[in-house]
Amino acid sequence: MSKSQEYIDQNIRKFEEELFDLLRIPSVSTDSSKKPAIKEAANFLLNQFESFDLERVELFETPGNPIVYAEHCPHDDKPTVLVYGHYDVQPSDPDELWESPAFEPVVKDGNVYARGASDDKGQSYTHVKAIESFRKTGQEIPVNVKFILEGEEEIGSPNLVPFITDHKDMLECDMVLISDTSMFGKDMPSITYGLRGLAYMEVEVVGPNRDLHSGVYGGAVENPLNVLCEMIAKLKDEDGRIQIPGFYDKVVDLTEAEREASAALPFDEEAYKKSLDIDAVHGEKGYTTHERASARPTLDVNGIWGGYTGEGAKTVLPSKANAKISMRLVPDQHPKEIAELFTEYFNSIAPDTVKVKVTDHHGGHPSVTDLSFYGLKAAAQAFEDVFEKEVLFSREGGSIPIVADFKKVLGVESILMGFGITSDAIHSPNEKFSLQDFHRGIKTSARFLEILAEA
Ligand code: BES
Ligand code: MN
Ligand code: MN
Repeated sequence: MSKSQEYIDQNIRKFEEELFDLLRIPSVSTDSSKKPAIKEAANFLLNQFESFDLERVELFETPGNPIVYAEHCPHDDKPTVLVYGHYDVQPSDPDELWESPAFEPVVKDGNVYARGASDDKGQSYTHVKAIESFRKTGQEIPVNVKFILEGEEEIGSPNLVPFITDHKDMLECDMVLISDTSMFGKDMPSITYGLRGLAYMEVEVVGPNRDLHSGVYGGAVENPLNVLCEMIAKLKDEDGRIQIPGFYDKVVDLTEAEREASAALPFDEEAYKKSLDIDAVHGEKGYTTHERASARPTLDVNGIWGGYTGEGAKTVLPSKANAKISMRLVPDQHPKEIAELFTEYFNSIAPDTVKVKVTDHHGGHPSVTDLSFYGLKAAAQAFEDVFEKEVLFSREGGSIPIVADFKKVLGVESILMGFGITSDAIHSPNEKFSLQDFHRGIKTSARFLEILAEA
């Protein structure tokens, strides 16, 4: 075993305690009252890098949350890996559904429970500890490394694209390494080679100038909530096909080879249904559950509101109705184009009894990594050395829009080396991360850098 792998085994308890300290910081990016926690989390990571005696460690302020940057590039003849991760987390609500408080990490059955345990503090911290395993054993890091850890991923990374565009030279690299995805299942090391994009819309349907008595006016004046429901019903047909004209025009169909590879993955539909307490799955006709959830576009209502929702019954004809509607995108759909198509269609199906307003929130591009990229082979080998299992390659349905920007701005592929699993409950109450996978993740990261140096 290498010195670095030995160091990781010997120091795993210390690493866990540090991770728990990081998890205690409530760095929620959507909540402006949590700005001090954002700063604290950024400084925590900055201090880590500073203790490794690297060539450059710097906190970059942005109009939003700071970006933690570190760099150590002592080799002329070795590749440069840019590690990306995020230290911001989703809000913890609904707090009453957590079995232990979201920002008080608790270990149970080999998992640590806390907001951000998997997404993305626990996963991204593996790479920080991998670097330590070289630096604290008197060794050079086998390849050149750069880190950017941002604090705005969960709000759409508004300041990251400008940052990478402004620091193209500083960020020059041969590949990006990201641990912010999931393995196919427990003990199933996986490389994610595709992510979906996102278009996120908000709609408002406005009827009469005030809420009305539903007996006095009902039947004669349009009800915006009824209209909104009818309009939403027109967004998809009974086969799950999205009805927005032009929506599928740029969708790249799955090849036969991709469909075969997807079908060969060890997906257990019965266990999937059981884990969600559902009797049947649902989705676009002609596609498997795994395809529907990873390589096909979707449209979902995320929230809908309006009218009376308080205690008891109030007879009212509401003056307004609202909904948040998101679409997951696949290559080559463009989030701005899809947002425009949505807006056009939504306006076109509105009856003249109401006024409609459509707002476009943040979005992001989908991405697919080239499977022949040499970095993927090194990553697969590292996984196999540590997990002693063959690596699976699959696409996933979540979004990390910056991956497409890394390709566009820096011209490099991203290696998505996830250590989480789908049942980690990211964004949900009782988020968790396996401590065994935290340990194996650190070893895989260190091993990856070693293999890459020999390649
Ligand atoms: N880490 C997730 C994305 C993810 C999760 C990818 C699981 C693959 C598997 C990331 O933090 C996230 O939550 N992204 C958001 C998008 C963003 C623009 C707010 C998402 O997917 O909803
Ligand atoms: Mn994430
Ligand atoms: Mn997330």
